[in-house]
Amino acid sequence: MEAFKPFESKGTPLEKQYRNWSEMVKPPYDKSSVDAYSRTRGILMNGVENNILSYLHDFARNTDDDVINGKLAELRRVEEQQQTTIDWSMPANQTVIETTLAFEQVATDLTANLAKNEPDPYVRQALDFALIEDFDHLFRYSALYEMLENGDPNSILQGKTEVKPGRPTGDEHRHPLDDLRRHYDRETADFKTKLNVWTITLGEQQTYLYYKTHGMMYPQDIARKLYAEIAEIEEEHVTQYEALGDPNETWLEKTLLLQAVEAYNYWSCLQTEPDPKLKVVWEEFYRYELEHIRIVGELLEKYEGRSAKDLIPESVEPLIVFEPNKEYVDQVVKDQINLRPYNKEFVDISELPADWLSHEYSRTVNTGGIPSEMVIEQRRKAA
Ligand SMILES: [Fe+2]
Ligand SMILES: [Fe+2]
Ligand SMILES: [Fe+2]
Repeated sequence: MEAFKPFESKGTPLEKQYRNWSEMVKPPYDKSSVDAYSRTRGILMNGVENNILSYLHDFARNTDDDVINGKLAELRRVEEQQQTTIDWSMPANQTVIETTLAFEQVATDLTANLAKNEPDPYVRQALDFALIEDFDHLFRYSALYEMLENGDPNSILQGKTEVKPGRPTGDEHRHPLDDLRRHYDRETADFKTKLNVWTITLGEQQTYLYYKTHGMMYPQDIARKLYAEIAEIEEEHVTQYEALGDPNETWLEKTLLLQAVEAYNYWSCLQTEPDPKLKVVWEEFYRYELEHIRIVGELLEKYEGRSAKDLIPESVEPLIVFEPNKEYVDQVVKDQINLRPYNKEFVDISELPADWLSHEYSRTVNTGGIPSEMVIEQRRKAA
């Protein structure tokens, strides 16, 4: 695998990045023969595009500069079209729960890969912490899939990610203040840390959005409640992960960083993708993002007197790789199942004070039954 070197090759000019409907909407993949990790790459990149689009809208709502707003509008149109191409690669016969299993496969194997390669121990701890929560979601949704659609989770996971308990979902409901974290320092943080933090934040944000826009589509009460329950934990994860980012980064600096996140992720996809049709898309979009980096770099130069090269290194390694992480996940479950966040640190359950805010919060939401427990119970009875 070749390192990510964003300044080495040329991007596609912006006016060549707008595409017609047929170029934008390509035939979907076949859900039973697609490689599980091709599917997860698509899910991740859809999340990256969709949530960077949101960020660029927020930026526009907070700036009165016509030059910046013009560039943001142009970038947004491209990001939006890229998102269509990626998300529309999913076939219509892939059910909501099947796609959900793939989302949790992303959460498990992406988070594990980022954690393994994360230079900052605190950020790594935050990744490990949420990793074994998403791993447990996969277990709960798998039970729902077996029960409602008589499906085999491995038709989606292909045996690459295991289906078994992590930190129990019912124990993951925390008071909002317990999801806050310390942030990295924009001046001293390793660039890989910045890439990791924003990649996972964007991915988790999309997971939240997917559950929140699809959980009501099932008529069964247990499905509706399980989606509501797990969606809220994804919101907790977004809160944790975004808190790791330095809020002192300027809007333009963050925009540049996010364009680098896109380019780095597309480059990682390109280097690891076995499907030739998807490879073409990753390569094309990689070249778009190189140009986005250049465009935002020019704005940064003009408004802040800094260049893209001041912020982005010549070469970044390692890349993001989707691959099985069974031993790693087992180990984290074994070592960290009893960790809980308190005062922005992670401590053993036994060290929590009696008035830990999340005790009261979890009692509030869990009174009256816990859907993630009920789904396992109902599935056991049905078997
Ligand atoms: Fe993009
Ligand atoms: Fe999550
Ligand atoms: Fe972009």
